[in-house]
Amino acid sequence: MRDPRALFQSRYGSDAVTIPDATTPIIEHLLSHRSVRAYRPDPVSDDQLAAIVAAAQSAASSSNLHAWSVVAVRDPDRKAALAECAGGQAHVREAPLQLVWLADLARLHRVAERCGRPDEALDYTEMLLVGVIDAALAAQNAAVAAQSLGLSLVYIGGMRNQPEEVARILGLPPRVFAVFGMCVGYADESKPASVKPRPAQSVVLHHERYSLEQQDAPLAAYDDAMARFYESQNMNVRGTWSVHSSKRVAGPASLTGRDRLVEALHKLGFAMK
Ligand SMILES: Cc1cc2nc3c(=O)[nH]c(=O)nc-3n(C[C@H](O)[C@H](O)[C@H](O)COP(=O)(O)O)c2cc1C
Repeated sequence: MRDPRALFQSRYGSDAVTIPDATTPIIEHLLSHRSVRAYRPDPVSDDQLAAIVAAAQSAASSSNLHAWSVVAVRDPDRKAALAECAGGQAHVREAPLQLVWLADLARLHRVAERCGRPDEALDYTEMLLVGVIDAALAAQNAAVAAQSLGLSLVYIGGMRNQPEEVARILGLPPRVFAVFGMCVGYADESKPASVKPRPAQSVVLHHERYSLEQQDAPLAAYDDAMARFYESQNMNVRGTWSVHSSKRVAGPASLTGRDRLVEALHKLGFAMK
């Protein structure tokens, strides 16, 4: 573990960052996060998976409904098929374990059915959100737990490029949707990943009332910090973070297939009233 000052400096990409006089080993662990996209073939053990899932289940859950599930995929052919769904991302194929995090309303449908009770609320967008939020909270607990075991990971939003095909590959019943995947494995240290800077806190932290204007100056500074980061990593990124981010929201074509997500969700059994 590096010293807290270095952790805060790399997290914000600046030596000038104020170091709070309140850190803990857990905060320092969180500040060390980086996505890893190159893995050794060494497997993730069943014990490690069980500990990771226990951590995931320890996250809070809306109304204690547990409206999420996770599919652990180790089979090379199934990983390869998922990699294709996610736009051909090599790390999905190569990581020894792919965890696919699901918003899961099928279980509640079955529970209500077995109780002989109606479940029309499952048809509302609110319940889909409950499942997505539960899945995300569980996944982030899992991520922190995996990293504490010396494992590395990267989330895979590409799992939403072709939701029906992902559902077919994983045998998902109606009312279950793959929110994102997560590559898990031991990092290939010959291709090290660095901590990616975040915008200054004044971009995300508002006191009492929200302000959009207060974000302009720190975001300009963030463009500079990201330019320094890209250069230090020899990454050939064209344009600033602002330009790059604008391209990601330019139009439906920037959504790599996810512009038809509502249609896909309807087909997967979410009425989204
Ligand atoms: C929900 C979600 C989906 C993501 N999807 C992908 C993905 O499909 N492929 C990928 O390489 N990285 C993906 N990422 C990783 C982000 O690009 C990464 O978290 C971000 O650039 C910040 O870098 P860091 O995680 O190293 O701090 C995803 C992250 C999140 C939270």
